[in-house]
Amino acid sequence: MSKALYPGSFDPITYGHLDVVQRAQKLFTQLTVAVVENPRKAPLFNTTERKALVEKALDEMGIADVPVITYSGLLIECAKGLGVTAVVRGLRAMSDFDYEFQMALTNRDLDSGVESVFLMTAGRYSFLSSSIVKEVKQYGGDTSKFVPRCVERALEKKFGLA
Ligand code: PNS
Repeated sequence: MSKALYPGSFDPITYGHLDVVQRAQKLFTQLTVAVVENPRKAPLFNTTERKALVEKALDEMGIADVPVITYSGLLIECAKGLGVTAVVRGLRAMSDFDYEFQMALTNRDLDSGVESVFLMTAGRYSFLSSSIVKEVKQYGGDTSKFVPRCVERALEKKFGLA
């Protein structure tokens, strides 16, 4: 059985992330999404809110059998605790590469038993990021092409637009 973990900040989850979930589901027999703290980022949504949004977004997309957990600490410890052999990350443009390369090799040094697996998002999401979505919505723009309705509603509430 090939178990994988898809970690990220998911602040908030976008169609780009959901595209990676669907691709990963085809490759692994069990996929878990982990909402993990990124010490380099100050999130808009707290961990509980982000987890709930991931769950609602999966539900809205009709994606089943993907448990969502939260984790605070080293990603590799989370992966080992779950007994996964792969950590899945989405790759968009070359700009992602340096950061992902650094993380993957550090994680491999910490535990060589867990491989990082990179999946290319669909071309239409290759520019998409949670930060861009937040910026567009903050100024009242239409984010319906970028995030599911439940996420749009949560952003509107957060920015006092609802
Ligand atoms: O969606 P993001 O913000 O790009 O996800 C980054 C994340 C959360 C996967 C990364 O920051 C992380 O692994 N955080 C946990 C702390 C950790 O293990 N750091 C060392 C990895 S090199």
